This record gives sequence, C-alpha cells and structure tokens, in this order.
Amino acid sequence: MTKFYTTTAIDYVNGAPHIGHAYEKILTDVIYRHFTQRCENTYFLTGTDEHGIKIQKTSAEKGISPKEFCDTNAQKFKDAWKALNVDYSQFIRTTDEQHTKIVQKIFKKLTDKGDIYKHSYKGLYCSGCEAFLSEKDLTEDGLCPDHMKKPEVVEEENYFFKLTKYKDAIIKHIKTNPDFIVPSFRANEVLNQLENIEDISVSRAKSNVSWGIPVLGDDSQVIYVWIDALSNYITALGYDTEKSSEKFNNLWPADVQIIGKDILKFHSIYWPAILLALDLPLPKHILAHGWITIDQTKMSKSLGNVISPTAVLEAFNLNIPDPFRYYMASAAPCGKDGNYSDEDFKEKVNAHLANSMGNLLNRTLSMLVKYFDGNIRPEFLGKNELKNNALETVKSVKHHFDYFEVQEASMKIMELVDFVNKYVTDNAPWTLAKEGQTEKCGIVLTNVLQVMTVIASLIYPFCPNIAQAMADQLGYDIKTKLDDITCEYLTSGHLIDKENIKPVFLRMDSELADKKK
Ligand code: MSP
Repeated sequence: MTKFYTTTAIDYVNGAPHIGHAYEKILTDVIYRHFTQRCENTYFLTGTDEHGIKIQKTSAEKGISPKEFCDTNAQKFKDAWKALNVDYSQFIRTTDEQHTKIVQKIFKKLTDKGDIYKHSYKGLYCSGCEAFLSEKDLTEDGLCPDHMKKPEVVEEENYFFKLTKYKDAIIKHIKTNPDFIVPSFRANEVLNQLENIEDISVSRAKSNVSWGIPVLGDDSQVIYVWIDALSNYITALGYDTEKSSEKFNNLWPADVQIIGKDILKFHSIYWPAILLALDLPLPKHILAHGWITIDQTKMSKSLGNVISPTAVLEAFNLNIPDPFRYYMASAAPCGKDGNYSDEDFKEKVNAHLANSMGNLLNRTLSMLVKYFDGNIRPEFLGKNELKNNALETVKSVKHHFDYFEVQEASMKIMELVDFVNKYVTDNAPWTLAKEGQTEKCGIVLTNVLQVMTVIASLIYPFCPNIAQAMADQLGYDIKTKLDDITCEYLTSGHLIDKENIKPVFLRMDSELADKKK
C-alpha cells in the first residue's frame, strides 16, 4: 500500500457538533491512524458544509450574516475535533475561496459537456435533506421519513444534471465491485434506488436561496448544495478541470469515504455520477456507518437528548479523550447502529482500559523493577511463547481494518490482553520469584512486556495518549510500523525506569481519578 486517502462527511454548521458527528470523525480518525502505521503517504480530510437555505434562515433569525454564523459554528467543530484528538490533515469549508472557484469550474465543465441542462420544474423539496423528494420517498402521511416534516412544493427553473446517463455505468460498477459499498448488505438498497432515479436538480433560484455558490454566467441561480458539498473531496486536493495539482494526482481516488447511512444515496449514486462525468476514477470504498442512539433513543432536539462530545469529557473529568474514542470507535459492528449510555461507557472503559490493559502493564513493569531492578537480562530473551499469538493478532487486526471492521479489531486487541492476563495468572511470576525460580520469572515478565509493546501499537489508533504513555514506560518507539513488529523489541540490557511507572489510565470512578476534579 503506497497511499491512503480518507474523508468524512462535511457537517452542516447550523448547530454544534454532537455525539453522532463525533462518532464518524473518531471512526475515521481511528482508521486513518491505523493506516498511518502501514503506509507513508496518508491524508485525512474533514470539514463543514456551509451553504443552503437552512443556514440562510437560521443566520437571518439571529440577525447576523450567514458567513459570520458559519465562522462561529465551523470553529465549534474544529474545537471539538481538537478535544477528541482527531488528527485530520485538512479541514475544508465549502465557503473557502478555492472550493468556490473549483465548484464553479466543475459546474461549467459539466454544462459544456451537455451533462447539465436548464429545465422548468415543480417538486417536493425537503429543506432538512436539502433535496427534492419523490412521492415514493415520503411516509404515508406525506412526510420526509428522515425529518418527519412535510416537504414544500417548489416550482422554479433549475439546472439539472443528467444522472440517468450514468445509471448503467454505476449499476455495473456496484455489481462488479462488491466491496465498493461497505458493508455489502447496503449495496442492494442502492441498486434498488438506482432503478428509479431521475435527473437531479443541481441549482436553486437565487430569489429562493441566495446563500450558495453562484452559477458562472447566470446571475439568477446558485449551485445547489449537494454538487457543492460532494465536490469538496476533490476541491480540497486542488482538483481543477484544466490542470490538477500534484496533491490531487497523488491522492485521488480516495481509499475510503466514510459517511452515515442516511447519505449513502448521495455518495454511491450522485457522487460516482459526477466523477464519471468528470472522467475521474471512483473512490475505492464508500463506508456507510450506522447511527448512534442515546440510551437506545434517537437523538433529537425536541427530546432534548442531544449530547455534545466535549460535555462527555467534562462530565467524566477526563483529561484525555482516549476512553471516549475507544468507546465510540468500538460502539457498533461495521455499518450497524450503536448506542451511547453513560453507565455502559464507564463500565466498558474501566474494564478494558483500566483493569485489563492498564493493570497488566503496571503490575508487570512493577514486578520487573522489584525483582530485577527493571533490567531485561540476556537469559530472559528468545523464549517467548506468547509471540505467535501476538503476531497473529497483528495480522487479524490488519485484516479487520482492511474491511473497516473497527469494533472487531478492538475486540481482537482485547482478546490478546485477556490471553496475556491469563498467562500471568497461570504462571504466577510472584510465586516463581518467591520460590527462587528467578530465570523463569524473568522470562515470564519479559514475554509479557514484549507483547505489551505490540498492544501499545495496536491500541494506538484508538487511544493515542494511552498508547504513548505505555510506550514511554516500556521504552518502546510507538512509530514502529505494523509490518516491522517482531514482538522482540526489548533487547538485552533494556532498562525500565522505575520513576516512570504509573497507571496509564485510572478507573473513572477511582478515588485518584476523582481527586483530579
Ligand atoms: N452536510 C451533509 C453531508 C455532506 S457530505 C458531502 C450532512 N451533514 S450532517 O451534519 O447532517 O451529518 C454529517 C454526518 O454525521 C453524516 O455522515 C451523518 O450520517 C452523520 N450523523 C449525524 N447524526 C448521526 C448520528 N446520530 N449517528 C451517527 N452519525 C450521524 O449530512
């Protein structure tokens, strides 16, 4: 693998980030960080979607300009991702000048090609989806199924994109590339939607929506949000209809574009059609993740159960986001819905990160210091009966990440932790020390610590701070690429610094953690 380019959906800025947005960004960050452990040229794009009628209306209600409103809210997303340690390479805003200019050029290119044409239209428009819906899409009561709102009847002359021209090519692509849509169970859903597609409106009359990118050469229209928003994945890289940048040439096509299941249609039908029209290759995978509920209930403003990710960190007095990252990233099997609950969060991270993983490292390091002054002696090396298991885990974690099965990968890591804990219990190094079986005791402790270097690497994408703390105490270089892991990192004479040893993560209900409050 020579490069890895991943993207998230760009969030609407009409509100503040919530746990659902955070789920997607964390999931992507974990996948991205995993692939940074496997290849040199990696890139992670996220950002905000800032045009459209909702922003226009909300900012007008607040009596501020749409741009001012977007600036304030885009910053909230950036701040949240910083607090969660989401290590994006670029944050694009659809109000960025470069984006605006390239979108206009894309629109012109498609118009010149005959793929965009003007057409008078009357349709049902849902401002929640920022899309026209057909009667078939609505509930029995005539509501948009996602927003439970009655769409407005909109009649205007718009530009249309010839989506139908690309229908057969997209069907063929999905059928011949069964891993294009991940998880694959969603591909049938998309194929069904493709049966009924029509050409789509890609502009709105300026008289109705003024907050958008103007169509070059037609003052009466602005480019409708989806063509504007979807293009971000290439405008961010400096794609140009005339001469693309080196960055674009190096990174496109994306390796995986990560989005929620609600916007899969836009990403697996509209977006591929736009790319085909531009003669560009399609992304390798579109990963549609499930939705996060709160205490098994859909998050909604009216229920008042919308949770901000930073509020969770504050409520639990967490000075690192790692536990929340770990919990969210492993909240659901690939593509399925997941749930957040305070109780479950606390229980799971206490059990996995503090009790199983953290304690294992802490007591093993302490024993090595107590019995051997922290010294790995030559006779302790080369007898690692845990090595095969550790290397097998690396293989299967990589395999799960190849299929974007992040929860499954985390479970493999915890299985290894449990296996090593059992090894310690079975071998009871404290008894070996007491009985004077010094060499055997040293071998057991060294074996465990070698595996802990592997565990630090594997847990790094989920818990970068904790992994770094583990690596620091072990004297291990966390930047070691996964392909170079041998489970033999600690060599003869390696010294563990006893001053450095402390729990890498305190139970969230422990007295010590409480004292930090
Ligand atoms: N702006 C569009 C995306 C354009 S991408 C070219 C949009 N924005 S959004 O703010 O409504 O949603 C952003 C992402 O967050 C989407 O992928 C969406 O699925 C995801 N989520 C929003 N609520 C969610 C949950 N409750 N759970 C998980 N993800 C959710 O759509």
